[in-house]
Amino acid sequence: NHAIEFNSLFTPAFVMDVDKAKRNAQRMIERCQKLGVQLRPHMKTHKTLECADIMTGGSQRCIVVSTPAEACFFADHGYDDILYAYSIPFDKVERCAALSERLDLIQILLDHPDALEQLRKRPLRDAIAKTEGVELRGVYAHCGNTYYCTGVEQIQAVAQETTKLTLQFIEKLKAVGITCKSSIGSTPTCSHPVKDMAQLSEVHPGNYVFYGVNYCFLMSQFQPCSFIRVWSGKSDPKLALWWSYFVCVSVCL
Ligand SMILES: Cc1ncc(COP(=O)(O)O)c(C=O)c1O
Repeated sequence: NHAIEFNSLFTPAFVMDVDKAKRNAQRMIERCQKLGVQLRPHMKTHKTLECADIMTGGSQRCIVVSTPAEACFFADHGYDDILYAYSIPFDKVERCAALSERLDLIQILLDHPDALEQLRKRPLRDAIAKTEGVELRGVYAHCGNTYYCTGVEQIQAVAQETTKLTLQFIEKLKAVGITCKSSIGSTPTCSHPVKDMAQLSEVHPGNYVFYGVNYCFLMSQFQPCSFIRVWSGKSDPKLALWWSYFVCVSVCL
């Protein structure tokens, strides 16, 4: 009887169905293996060691984070090969440089020559060794616009377009002698990949561990299958249930 167990929780409490999260994670791992691309799961949705462990299959390697604080948190707990997926703000360069001293690999995103200039002043450890200052590791494109789609057909059209543009860019780089990795992928595109995505090096979805309510709306298959809840002990139970239904209901797909 979950209601009784929930009532004994110290609230607010985050409650999730671990078996469903494990199933969601396993399916994404298998999908990526089948495609032949490296899965680099994003941690921003949950920010927990438990889900990170589930999503990396225990490897503690190859993750994406959205802040240096998240990067430090996972680094403190043994994670490595961390990609900080936000065009680096100048005031975060120092923290990333410090992280690069502790980790085998930290990757950051640049989208402006000024950011490159900042990085030259304070290169990351790997970059120092290469004297040039900075090494381009790859091209990272995020197709967050898939959350405005309705249904698989539209999602796959976005997946196709993003893949095409990213690979075209990689080809242009190749033509001038630069070989590097390519990465795209929101939860919707990685849940319904198109064939050409097999030509990418990596994908970086994150939300799939929960398949949150946004995803359910966009797939038009919103089901009253409660999976994670923010449980508030003081609320009217009906109201709490309504909110949990709307804010956090997720399904196992
Ligand atoms: C830069 C970036 N990469 C990856 C992701 C993960 O995508 P999703 O939440 O669809 O799994 C996000 C999510 O917003 C993101 O902003």
